[in-house]
Amino acid sequence: MEVLDLIKNRFSPYAFTDKKMTEQDLLTLFDAAGKAASAFNEQPWRFIYALRQDEVEFKVIQECLVEGNQGWTGGVSALVIAVVSENYAKNGNKNTVAKHDLGLAVGNLTLQASAMGIYLHQMAGIIPQNCIDKLNIPEGFEPVTAIALGYYDGESEIKEKKAVDEIAFKGTWK
Ligand SMILES: Cc1cc2nc3c(=O)[nH]c(=O)nc-3n(C[C@H](O)[C@H](O)[C@H](O)COP(=O)(O)O)c2cc1C
Repeated sequence: MEVLDLIKNRFSPYAFTDKKMTEQDLLTLFDAAGKAASAFNEQPWRFIYALRQDEVEFKVIQECLVEGNQGWTGGVSALVIAVVSENYAKNGNKNTVAKHDLGLAVGNLTLQASAMGIYLHQMAGIIPQNCIDKLNIPEGFEPVTAIALGYYDGESEIKEKKAVDEIAFKGTWK
């Protein structure tokens, strides 16, 4: 079996159409995210979101992005700040794999989005302190990334990826 088209055809656009996203569709994406595996089933991910039509909330999330990312996100359909819980709820120890688990959740979200014709553009370029202050993120939680979501109707812009033998080594590091 080959790699699924849903996976092969994914890419991160900078230009989106002006189509509005429904809150129901966005919640379906979070539902998919929440079904990911996580260490001790802690589900350390949290998502703070705004749809473009929620103008005030949308602008607040935009202000949590670095300038370079504020520039191209004004017209996207939704913005999300992805957050992790830093410690395990069960024993208070540091959850060293919380960001790994967030990645799994966003991976699920991405696949569900692809199936629904929705594109993502993830961003490391956030201003963490703005996220904490403007979005009321409590102590013990860390904002990690932002995600722009929307619709795209242009040419696909699939980037070249490493070959399998560059990322997977049989037996020992090659
Ligand atoms: C965790 C993460 C952080 C990223 N941060 C940014 C960012 O701050 N700004 C940006 O324009 N793109 C950002 N990107 C998008 C990447 O540049 C893009 O995914 C990469 O070039 C591969 O392209 P593709 O997603 O179309 O395959 C980020 C992607 C990921 C997964």
